[in-house]
Amino acid sequence: IDLTELNTLRVSATARYYMEVETLDDLARALAWAQENGHRVLVLGSGSNLVFAGDYAGLVIRMRIAARYWEQVDDTGATLVLGAGENWHDAVLYAARCGYRGIENLALIPGTAGAAPVQNIGAYGVELCDTLVSVTALDRETRQLVTLHKADCEFAYRDSLFKRQPERFIITGIRLRLSRTRPLQLGYRDLEDYLGETDTEKLDAVTVAEAVMAIRHRKLPDPGMIPNVGSFFKNPVVSAETFSKLQAAHPDVVSYPQNGTVKLAAAWLIDRCGWKGYRNDRVGVHNRQALVLINHSGGTGLDVLDLASDIRDSVRAQFGVELAMEPGIVGV
Ligand code: EPU
Repeated sequence: IDLTELNTLRVSATARYYMEVETLDDLARALAWAQENGHRVLVLGSGSNLVFAGDYAGLVIRMRIAARYWEQVDDTGATLVLGAGENWHDAVLYAARCGYRGIENLALIPGTAGAAPVQNIGAYGVELCDTLVSVTALDRETRQLVTLHKADCEFAYRDSLFKRQPERFIITGIRLRLSRTRPLQLGYRDLEDYLGETDTEKLDAVTVAEAVMAIRHRKLPDPGMIPNVGSFFKNPVVSAETFSKLQAAHPDVVSYPQNGTVKLAAAWLIDRCGWKGYRNDRVGVHNRQALVLINHSGGTGLDVLDLASDIRDSVRAQFGVELAMEPGIVGV
């Protein structure tokens, strides 16, 4: 089966076998079949955070488990339960419209609910792990359905247990604790600038989600129109010592201090190396966000990875900083 329509970078690749799963039974059957026949397994949500460097020789499972309901509703909050196949952005709008706060800053992030914990999605000052209570997953070692509580998931910036051990768990659902009363998170600079003089007392989860959507529309390409996988690199974290040397040489370096270390804006580093808006005949760098690589026309996964590698080389040469790729690479 052709996977071009199943990855938002729209690179062409094929899967030897392909199954869509809508229930836990479907999933168990698909895994048993793969194991009996000795095939590797790749679980795909909406393909918005991976790069096919080549064809996939095993079984691709498209996660379509649906579920969306509330648990433990009380005066102050409620727990939102989502099946792994639910569209993330739809869930954000649903929660906001129901009057619950906690994930409105994560509006318009492409992908599924089941993929959200893998890279601990984050934007505009909020991360998934701020509200996540637990993840249900199929443990491929024991073939049991397990509940992993937040503390088990080893969440960090764009990182989790699921990202570090991609073969072990298949996420089937998530639980988020949302609140009717928690303060809105309005401190991220873009959000502050956008809201300007707005009376923050009048804001609610829906209006914050709308503000985030407007900001994202301005800066980030819609993967439905311009093939991309969002930020292609993580923002690198360096020691205070490395940072002070860097700052001495580049006083305007954009950075965010965080408990003893410093996170650098990868977009700024890439931009400074002159890559923003760069394009060859197939792939390029977005002209409003240097962290986003784009497949303009018929680029392959390898074209994108070549560009990524050139960008890393120039950032290393100019700043001595190593950039780590954010999306998963498949089919090498
Ligand atoms: N900047 C540049 N040039 C650019 C873009 C940005 O110099 O082309 C500088 C600006 O100074 C800006 C700073 O970099 O203030 C940071 O840019 P931005 O606020 O756009 O955020 P980011 O650090 O580049 C991160 C996430 C995004 C998320 C935004 C907003 C990562 C890897 N990326 O980007 O997430 O939407 O913050 O919170 O952490 C994604 O993961 O796919 C993604 C889009």
